[in-house]
Amino acid sequence: MKILFAASEAYPLVKTGGLGDVIHALPRALHQQGVDVRIILPAYRLVLEQISNLRIAGWLQVQGAGRLHEIRILETTDQRLGVPLLLVDAPNLFDRPGSPYLHPDGYNWHDNAERFSVFSRAVAQVASSTGMLDWKPDVVHAHDWQTGLLPAFLKLIPDAPASVYTIHNLSYSGIFSHEEFAQLHLPGEWWSADALEFFGNFSMLKGGIIFADKVTTVSPTYAREIQTPGFGYGFDGVLRSHDHKLRGILNGIDQEIWNPATDPHLPHHYSLKYHYLAGKRNNKKALLKQLGVELKDEQLHTPLLGFIGRLVEQKGVDLLLQIIPHILDNHDVRLVILGSGEKHFENALRELAALYPQRLLLTLGYSEELAHRIEAGADLFLMPSRFEPCGLNQMYSLRYGTPPLVHQVGGLADTVVDATQENLKNNTATGFVFYEPSTGAMLHAIERALDLYKKPASWHKLMRTAMAQDFGWNKSANEYIRLYEEVGK
Ligand code: ADP
Ligand code: GLC
Repeated sequence: MKILFAASEAYPLVKTGGLGDVIHALPRALHQQGVDVRIILPAYRLVLEQISNLRIAGWLQVQGAGRLHEIRILETTDQRLGVPLLLVDAPNLFDRPGSPYLHPDGYNWHDNAERFSVFSRAVAQVASSTGMLDWKPDVVHAHDWQTGLLPAFLKLIPDAPASVYTIHNLSYSGIFSHEEFAQLHLPGEWWSADALEFFGNFSMLKGGIIFADKVTTVSPTYAREIQTPGFGYGFDGVLRSHDHKLRGILNGIDQEIWNPATDPHLPHHYSLKYHYLAGKRNNKKALLKQLGVELKDEQLHTPLLGFIGRLVEQKGVDLLLQIIPHILDNHDVRLVILGSGEKHFENALRELAALYPQRLLLTLGYSEELAHRIEAGADLFLMPSRFEPCGLNQMYSLRYGTPPLVHQVGGLADTVVDATQENLKNNTATGFVFYEPSTGAMLHAIERALDLYKKPASWHKLMRTAMAQDFGWNKSANEYIRLYEEVGK
């Protein structure tokens, strides 16, 4: 079976969040199961800078916003990806500094509609001909709004491959104006409520929902939630009417990259079988030292709470901001935070960090290494997301023996088992769950966690059950394979 993954990110070449992690680990897992997978990405400057052995596979002419683009399709194999990589090289759209979506000053590129519709059109053409690559996929697997138009473009091409479309986050839905729709020369009949039109604008993500042969999202609970008004961002009706082709498949984690026994970012290695308590203690000491807090061994018992994530409303940063003074004023704990995002959240955190020196340890920015060290060095991992399609950090925490504390939504509900008396007794508890997005509920869960932390035998059992969970990709990769078999010709 031949599958082409089309996305806007793939770790380690380009990543802004969990999408990048998935477009690394899932293709790898499929490859290990014998699937012939390739990945196609835009040729961002950042990606081109990291790759040396590029080959030109061919040229295409692709319609943009009122102009045609001459595009090169590049091919390479990069050890770090583990599967062949194709790039859509349109220098005037992608050879730019900064993130895939944003100008270095932080605003969206003004021509994102053109950038990602050109990418999608080019992928549709490459995937539908045997001429250029001598390889034609059975299924094109498109991801998130940036490739929402791809299943739609495929429907315009005779003998095109089937398509699967995965929604990683419904709140980013690629919404653009009628003027942009017209400039992009999209078929006029697509301006309809049954196609791309969305409350007076158009949505690229909606194209994926309507035109793909199958639609998936990244956890079973999120698949149900997005069919309700509270989580549907206006798409709940469309999703309900396409529910026959919608499925929730839980993301996995890359257990090689996120493995405390071999993680190159960690100063001390450990595993369930190998000194996990000493390993975590030593990592905690090293992490605190790195963040400017030097402690003696006997001072290390103070719980260290961790948070890593994009600083946006989704992640419950407002809840976190409200509870920080309360927990730091009332409990002997420290909190380590790594994140970047909306400026008002960054500023609010900065002000709090100044009020609690040596106790609120804040790093604003992006650091893969520090993320790994926090997963290993913290005692409790906070994930109070207001919604969470899947979430990967809670699964990383489980594997690193850092029980996660989560709001019961989306993938968090599907992966963390609350430390109730009963669940502790029957060895199923892996973390702490709170059931409504309020500061009261979150504080109550934190206090439950801090109480349990004072009982080392129970806490260590919780850690061990967490570390014993298997969230590798195998099971979910098999579910995707079954889905490809259903739609592939
Ligand atoms: P989302 O995709 O919504 O951001 P996920 O939990 O699925 O959430 O994935 C987030 C990924 O991005 C994880 O690998 C996490 O470690 C990483 N990440 C988020 N923010 C940062 C940061 N500031 N520094 C390093 N890694 C980060
Ligand atoms: C999105 C979601 C996150 C999910 C990730 C990978 O960014 O916000 O919950 O884990 O995609 O699917």
